[in-house]
Amino acid sequence: MKIIELDEVSSTNDYCKTLTENSVVFARRQSCGKGTKGRSFSSGEGGFYVSIVNFYKDFKSENAFKIMVNSCVAVCKTVEYFNLKPEIRWANDVLVKGKKICGTLIENTFNKNIISRSIVGIGINVNNELPTELSDIATSLSCELNSKINLQTVKKVFLKNINKNFSVNDYKNYIGWFNSTVTLKTANGEEKAVAKDVDMSGNLICEIDGNIKIVSAAEVSLRTDD
Ligand code: BTN
Repeated sequence: MKIIELDEVSSTNDYCKTLTENSVVFARRQSCGKGTKGRSFSSGEGGFYVSIVNFYKDFKSENAFKIMVNSCVAVCKTVEYFNLKPEIRWANDVLVKGKKICGTLIENTFNKNIISRSIVGIGINVNNELPTELSDIATSLSCELNSKINLQTVKKVFLKNINKNFSVNDYKNYIGWFNSTVTLKTANGEEKAVAKDVDMSGNLICEIDGNIKIVSAAEVSLRTDD
């Protein structure tokens, strides 16, 4: 795998779209970091910003959730290395003590029922300053540990974990909110549900008024209610 290290780039995910071989792209900062659902991702100096582009010949789209599983679990293992307790908020956020420490943006290119290219973009808050408006909902490794973290260590631990093959059960082991009430947020508003499980395709299985409902991360985002 080719490793590319950049000082500044608009977005490491967008940079990956210019590449033709499997690569890992790191940037010290991003001028236009992208989040899910068209949102931006604050990407100042001191954070850990990486995208991994993979080209596949025979990766069936029904296995797309595996890409999410591997990246989220790799982030959790990286956070654990620093003796913190990560939790996954379905589908793709990693939290510490209820605050977001990492976000993942996966951009897949489909060719019929095959994923021909996947770009996995991961942003971990490490030593970067978080915008004040995010202080209630986001945290960083350095905030949690009260010290400056060596970004090279984060990189080393992350690279060790990103090449592993994790299972959906590994992913579910980082979910502490099964059987509790969550808020499902859709384009049409919010709905309370009891989260039950995540299936092999990555759908959330929940219960609303005694009825089982299966929701996909493309339509719904989640708030875990305290
Ligand atoms: C989210 O929380 O909404 C997803 C955030 C993903 C951020 C990472 S940082 C590296 C890569 N490049 C981007 O522009 N976004 C992802």
